[in-house]
Parts: sequence; structure tokens; C-alpha cells
Amino acid sequence: MYRFPLTLVLGILLMPAVWAQQPKYLDEKLPIEERVEDALSRMTLAEKIAVIHAQSKFSSPGVKRLGLPDFWTDDGPHGVRPDVLWDEWEQAGQTNDSCVAFPALTCLASTFDPQLGYLYGVSLGEEARYRGKDMILGPGVNIFRTPLNGRNFEYMGEDPYLASRMVVPYIQGMQSCGVAACVKHYALNNDEENRHQVNVIVDDRTLHEIYLPAFKAAVQEAGTWAIMGAYGLYRNEHNCHNERLLMDILKGDWKYDGVVVSDWGGTHDTHQAVVNGLDMEFGTWTDGLTMGATNAYDNYYMALPYLNAIQSGKYTTRELDEKVRRVLRLFYRTTMDRSRPIGSLCSEAHYDAARKVADAGIVLLKNDHQVLPMDLSKTKKVLVVGENAIKMMIVGGGSSSLKAQKEVSPLQGLKSLLGDRVRIDYARGYVGDVTGEYNGVSTGQDLKDDRSPKELIDEAVRMAKDADYVLCFGGLNKSDYQDCEGHNRKAYGLPYAQDELISALADANKNFVFINISGNPVAMPWLNKVPAVVQAWYLGSIAGEALAGVLTGEVNPSGKLPFTWWTGLDQVPAHKLRTYPGTWRPDKKIIDEEYKEGLFVGYRGVDKFGSKTLFPFGYGLSYTDFTISKASADKKSMTPNDSITFKVTVKNIGTREGAEVVQLYIRDLKSKLPRPSKELKAFRKVYLKPGESCVVALTIGKDALSYYDDNAGKWVAEPGQFEALIGNSSQNLRSKVRFTLQ
Ligand code: BGC
Repeated sequence: MYRFPLTLVLGILLMPAVWAQQPKYLDEKLPIEERVEDALSRMTLAEKIAVIHAQSKFSSPGVKRLGLPDFWTDDGPHGVRPDVLWDEWEQAGQTNDSCVAFPALTCLASTFDPQLGYLYGVSLGEEARYRGKDMILGPGVNIFRTPLNGRNFEYMGEDPYLASRMVVPYIQGMQSCGVAACVKHYALNNDEENRHQVNVIVDDRTLHEIYLPAFKAAVQEAGTWAIMGAYGLYRNEHNCHNERLLMDILKGDWKYDGVVVSDWGGTHDTHQAVVNGLDMEFGTWTDGLTMGATNAYDNYYMALPYLNAIQSGKYTTRELDEKVRRVLRLFYRTTMDRSRPIGSLCSEAHYDAARKVADAGIVLLKNDHQVLPMDLSKTKKVLVVGENAIKMMIVGGGSSSLKAQKEVSPLQGLKSLLGDRVRIDYARGYVGDVTGEYNGVSTGQDLKDDRSPKELIDEAVRMAKDADYVLCFGGLNKSDYQDCEGHNRKAYGLPYAQDELISALADANKNFVFINISGNPVAMPWLNKVPAVVQAWYLGSIAGEALAGVLTGEVNPSGKLPFTWWTGLDQVPAHKLRTYPGTWRPDKKIIDEEYKEGLFVGYRGVDKFGSKTLFPFGYGLSYTDFTISKASADKKSMTPNDSITFKVTVKNIGTREGAEVVQLYIRDLKSKLPRPSKELKAFRKVYLKPGESCVVALTIGKDALSYYDDNAGKWVAEPGQFEALIGNSSQNLRSKVRFTLQ
């Protein structure tokens, strides 16, 4: 007779007992909340204190005793930042940390295509996973209030609705990889100069209608797992431990269940950090960019000072347990999720995703006499001018600086696309910033050129005379006081004598194109005489390929401006009302900045103040033409529980495939409180072949009609008449439909 071995029999008998012994916090079948409570109940006080603050520049400890891994984060938001030393900003010197640099978020916003937001998020999430990162410090959704803000290029434009629609899929894509998004900088981070000292004074309505909606969408629609506090102050309290922003609004009203992460060096006070909702403290004793204090981690505001205060009875563990619960939830969503994908780095698919975003985000601002696309059948000689045609842009700009596997410059992109078919010459035209180093990553370029502006302009003009096309790449760059973290631009105009250069080139050659590389609008005093202008953003690894594609017509541009392009600084509401940069208090520690323009930011301000613009919000040309039919609505009147759908037919009446963005703005014809004359509430990008048409249906509910009533402290949809304005930019809204909210 066959006998079972005794050990097997015992094993089978004991199995339920072994199962029963498996702690709940490790049981993957249990809901996260149960596992969190079980893990929490097993942690010592020291372990709890440890998980709520950093242990290195970009990591915080897990709980080794319980098998919870350390937690690794990294910037964000355009690619995965190269690894730095444990306790320094300098490079760790890895050779496997080069990434794909995706186009900057201004470019993503200008695609007006939420599907690309998802593709961006998922691609970056995969890169992060492969690099062993559990959280990416991004995306950024602070509203463009002034075009001087050095950090606008990392954000998604001036409109809360557009930023909301683009940020939600980015987060969903990234988090589908088991990588937390950390939306930043919550809130009111609209000014880089003196960013640790700016105290924003803003009315409640403006806060809720303009500056918070994208964060709210990130929390409530995308379910972001992390959010980063901003450096500045609001109501005299630093935003990383701001009672009203974090406790009342974020965790109270919005019921946020994720972690609040401090910006690096944004924590200033143990008591406020304890009671006002900060969950994870990073980067204390640094300004985020340079200075640091070695081995400071035990002295973080939420480390020993907090532990001592608990031990001496100042606090119970009530607040601490709440913070740890959130951190554990983050662990279960990321490091403890064994099913998350392993990701991939620098894959063809990621380059492809970057290219799609760039192709859809480049904006054609002006194209008189159809200078573009270049007619290659008649082109023998092209002159490329400008530092930005050759300058590597991925290094620089602050914490979003990257070490990319490759960066194709505009000049290289054109050369490889046009090959031997066309002769391409290059003239420097202007010398901007020849440095190219950030935290030990160098572009390796030597851009030194000692010639005077006059010599450079003369050379370019001479060469421009007999070229079939002159393509000048200029704009800003990622150096201090340009599009760069830590400071604002000092002026609206183009730097480095570019205006003279552009003017002279426009005089020299009628087939002249200016390609502006920036994350912000700039003054264009020469606009009348320049036939073609392209807005090119910072496009990352595939910059030159994408630009060559658009200039030669391989790709038809379809980006729309995510911000208003003012004629001058004096037209920007914040500047017009002299509310920028604010007023220093006598002790010179705080600068108060009152947002006197209120709701009237960007295009809302254009109507209100009669500001002059070069190009409106939502604007962008194409190489083909579209018609948008008169709009119809499915009803004349709706109830607050209802929705209303507007339909238009869009037709491509040109000869090329292209894309148009149908935009719907709402005007409240009569309201108790003053409202902007129109606000974007729906849009759809459609791709159409020549002759093809399609019906675009845009549906809105009462949210699109509501305003924030600051007396009542809630959103209100006032019954009455509204108008839906439909068109293809904030200033080209030919179709109007009236309807009533009952
Ligand atoms: C920036 C953050 C960034 C952090 C870490 C800070 O200076 O404001 O956006 O994520 O540094 O590099």
C-alpha cells in the first residue's frame, strides 16, 4: 500500500494554520485599507517617524523589518531625472540613467488632445518603472498669470479647464504603471522670483475658479496618489503646511486620500507640518536647487523634533497615524504592488510618443503667402540661423533638467530629413548663453563665439540673400532669467539682440520663417514684416525631427495656444493693474502679491480690460482649411440634472490631411456676480482627410455653467440664459446658441 510521507501529511494538515499566520498587511487578496491598518498597528513609533521624511535627496525609507521597501521618487515632469548622489545634487555618475526627454508640458497642453496626455503619462511611467522610481514629481498645473514666470514651460497654460482636461489622463496613464504622479505645485505657484517669500492675496472666488480646478480634477477625476505643496505662502502660511489649502480644501472638501509631499526645502515649521496636513517631508535645508545640509535628515521638521514632541506629550500619535496611513496607502499603490509592469527605457514606442506630442503641439502662428510648408521642389539652398538651431535644450531649466539618450537639434533634424537633396548652410546670427551644464550633466557643446552682434547679423544677412528659405531659430532658452526655475524673466522682449537679427533677415529674404523656441510668449515688434512664425516650445529628444517635419510639410501643424500672446507686458492684466511683483513688507522677509485682476487672467482679461494681443488663446493655423458649421443644440432649455449637447460639422476643405480643435465657450448672459464674458468648457480635436467631414458633439452639464459663490462657499449654477460660443479660438467664435438653465 502506498503511504503518504509523514511530512506531507503534516504539511497538509497544518496549511490552514500557516495561512492563518500570514499577516494581513501582506495578504494581497485583502483590500488595501485593511492591509494599511494592519501594517500601521505593527509599526514602532520610530518606524512611523521614519516613513514620513526623506532619507536621501530623492528617497524615503520603507519599513525593513516588515518587508516594506524604500520609496524612490524623481523629477519630473518631462522625463526621468538622472540619478544624483545620495546626499548631493551632483550626479551619481550612472551610465544607465539616460532617458527620453518628452516635449515640455506647454507643448502637451497645446495639443488640446487628452489622448496624448494619457500616452505621455504612460510612456513616462514606463520609463520611471524601468529606472526604479515609484513616484514622478509632476505634472505641473499652475496657471500662467504672467508671461515672465520662469516656470511656465513646465505648466499647462492659462485656462483651468484645458489644464484639467490634460492633467487627468497624464496622471491616469502614469499611475497605470504603478508609479505615483505628484501633481505640483499646490497652490498659487505663479511667480518664481522670491518663490519662498511670495505671500499671495487672492479672493476665494478666483482661487476656486482659476487656480484650483486643475488640482481638483487631478484629485477627484484622476485620483492622483500624491500632490506637492508649493514654496510660497497663502494667508501668511507656507503652502506645504497650509491649513486652509491642505486641511480644509484638499483633504476636507475634496476628500483626498493620497499624500501631501513638501517641495524640496518647502517645510519651515514642525507644528504646522504636524497639524496642517503635510505627509512627507523632502529636501529640507535646500532651496531645491543648490544649497543643502549634509546628514540633516534626523533634524527634519518631521523627524526628531516631531518624535521628541510626541515623547514629551505635546502630540498624541493621532496626526502621525493619519500621515502614516497615507504613506502606507502610497506604498500599497506602488512599491507593494507586485503586479505593476517592469517598464522600459528609451524604447522606440517612447520616442514615437514624444514625436506624436510634438507633432500635435507645435503651433503655426503666421503663414502669409503660404511660405510654409517649404516647397521642396523649388528648394536648392536653405539657410538656418540662430543659436537655438544648434543649442541642446534638455539640460537646464532647473529640476526638470534631464540627461537624455539623444537630442536632435533643429539643424540636425533638417539635415537628416533633407539629406543631399538640399544644401543647408548655417549662420549663428546671435550668441545667447553658451553654457550648458546642470548639476554635473553637460551638453558637451562648445558654443563660444566672440563676434559682436553686428558681425553676426551681417554674416547672416549676407548668407540669407541667395537662399531659397531662411529659417531662423531663436526665442528663449533654459538659462537663469529665461525659461528656468528659480527666477522670472526680466523683460518680455527677446534677448540677445534677436529683434535686430529677425528684422534684418526679414528684409533680406521674403521666404523667411522665425521659429520661436520658448515656454512663454515674447514681444514681436517685427511681426508685420515676418511672413511666417512657428511656436516650437521645448520639444525634447526629438525636437529637430518634429520641427523639420512641420517646416517641410511632412506633418501638418495643429497645435493651439494654451495662453494669450500679449502685444506687450502692459497688456497683461496683472501688469496692467500693477500687481506684479508685489510689495515687500518692511522686514523684507515677505513680499505680498495681490491678485487684483481676480478672475480676469489670460483671455478672460482680454475682454475685461480690452488688452491687445498678437495671437489669442486657442489659436493656431494649419496647412489646410476647415469650415465649422453653425451649431445646433439638442434642447433649448436644461435642468441642473440634465446636460445639453451642441453639434457642429467640421470639414477639411483644403488639400492636406490635418486637425482642427473645436472649442466651446460659455457666456452667462446675466448673473448675480460679475463673470468673464466667456469661458472654455469643452473642446475636441478632430483629424480629417482632405474633403472629409465629421460631426463633433460637445456635451456640458451644470458644472460648465456654475461659478463659485464665495459668500455661500459653494458652486452655484444660476438659472437663466446662457450662450454657447463655438469656433476654433477664443477670438473666432462664429457660432452662437442660446439656451436656458431652469
Ligand atoms: C522644485 C520641484 C522639484 C524639486 C525636486 C524643487 O526645486 O520646485 O518642482 O520637484 O525641487 O527636484
